[in-house]
Amino acid sequence: MTEANIDGGFRPSGQLQLGVFFQGVNSGTVWKAPESGSQTDFESFRRIAQTAERGLFAAFFLGEGLRLREHLGRPHALDVAGRPDAQTMLAALASVTSHIGLVATQNTTYNDPADLAHRLSTLDLLSGGRAAWNVVTTDNAWTGANFRRGGYLDHADRYIHAEAFVETAKRIWDAWDDGVIAASPSEEAWAKPASIRRARHEGQHYSVDYLPRLPRSAQYRPVLFQAGDSPDGRDFAARQADVIFSAHPKFDDALEFRRDIVARSLKAGRGANDVKIMPASEFILAATPQEAREKKAWVRSLQIGPQQAIAYLEQFWGRELQDYDPDGPLPEIDPVVEETSETRGSGFHGAKARQLADQWRAEANEKGLSIRQFVSSKTSRGDATFNGSYTEVADRLVEYARTGAVDGFNISPWLIPTGLDDIVNHLVPELQERGIYPTEYAGTTLRENLGLATPLRPAAGVADNGVAVGGRHA
Ligand SMILES: Cc1cc2nc3c(=O)[nH]c(=O)nc-3n(C[C@H](O)[C@H](O)[C@H](O)COP(=O)(O)O)c2cc1C
Repeated sequence: MTEANIDGGFRPSGQLQLGVFFQGVNSGTVWKAPESGSQTDFESFRRIAQTAERGLFAAFFLGEGLRLREHLGRPHALDVAGRPDAQTMLAALASVTSHIGLVATQNTTYNDPADLAHRLSTLDLLSGGRAAWNVVTTDNAWTGANFRRGGYLDHADRYIHAEAFVETAKRIWDAWDDGVIAASPSEEAWAKPASIRRARHEGQHYSVDYLPRLPRSAQYRPVLFQAGDSPDGRDFAARQADVIFSAHPKFDDALEFRRDIVARSLKAGRGANDVKIMPASEFILAATPQEAREKKAWVRSLQIGPQQAIAYLEQFWGRELQDYDPDGPLPEIDPVVEETSETRGSGFHGAKARQLADQWRAEANEKGLSIRQFVSSKTSRGDATFNGSYTEVADRLVEYARTGAVDGFNISPWLIPTGLDDIVNHLVPELQERGIYPTEYAGTTLRENLGLATPLRPAAGVADNGVAVGGRHA
């Protein structure tokens, strides 16, 4: 058995939670089944959210891709182009679900704290305390072109900005005391005077002077997730987040990440168990190991179609490769660029293009891979994929729960709308039998279902920044 050795007073809960990360942005999610519907079809989102709720998932996440990646002047073939606004979609889903948490990925770089805090409060109230915010700082200059603000924040500044943003949002959510709204229409004022505080922020990037417009929700305020893996991002999460949406699902890596976050949390003055961790993952399962392997090969062939394979290579070659056969060898022709610059919005920049092309041709040749097979191997989620029979994978997950390497997983479904069916119908019962997964929702709010403590209430009606409020009824 692997020894966990997570110090600092950390105590594993022995339990796992599941979330669904419906990224809807890249080719990791397949929309090609006849019943998938369009990328913007509410029915597809509803099916996934309701399946997840049937499986007692804690949360349904929507990713955020504010800008379509472009490649050689056109939308990139590897991405999903139809992207409904996350909060509007989650508000619609709130009315067809009853327990699952509704998580909106929203960036701090291009939003406004007062506006975003208000919209998230609204989602939290109308869903009965099920809202959460996945805080990201997102790509900068390229996304910024949407907002006439391209390239205005350095990487380090993005987290300074994010911290001020989140603290302002928390101040807004703290601003109303409990029971502020008048209990009866016969009372003169809409709200109790002096029980709404002004939220102020004066800082480098913006200033806010705001009188918040909504009361606390059933879970006090939206749950905070964080996604961003740099040292600054991790420190920010250790100070501010309830849950980290991490990029470390592989067991040893997950343990290491847990140790790192425990150390950072303690340094930030929080407890060893205060920040939960749910890594991104993909599950491809079947009744037997052999079937699961075959299924994985099939899923990969769906994730990367012929046109997408060519588009992927074009990013590194810097030229059109449409005349090449996707089932043939990698192009003999050399890249036209000196340095690769993978289509904006992704992480692979600046390798020497010709050197990379030589290396890839040799690798594909040696393994006997066609363009499509090669691209599939390069783009596969690799370490993030749990592939095997239901019992095999459930056994592997016991180790994660026992050691506390993670608190659960955020699963990206590989197929719409049925990509979670195997997990809910077969994996969840196996996990329940092993005593590491809930058999019912713990409560009705996301905070209850994730086992998170309610934030401490500030002292009621603080005099110096409390302001008297209350319009009269008409
Ligand atoms: C698991 C995971 C999911 C993410 N999802 C999104 C997303 O949906 N939209 C987005 O703009 N950025 C997303 N990000 C990117 C982060 O916003 C961040 O911009 C990026 O990781 C760079 O920050 P860092 O330098 O701290 O890693 C995600 C990051 C991680 C690790």
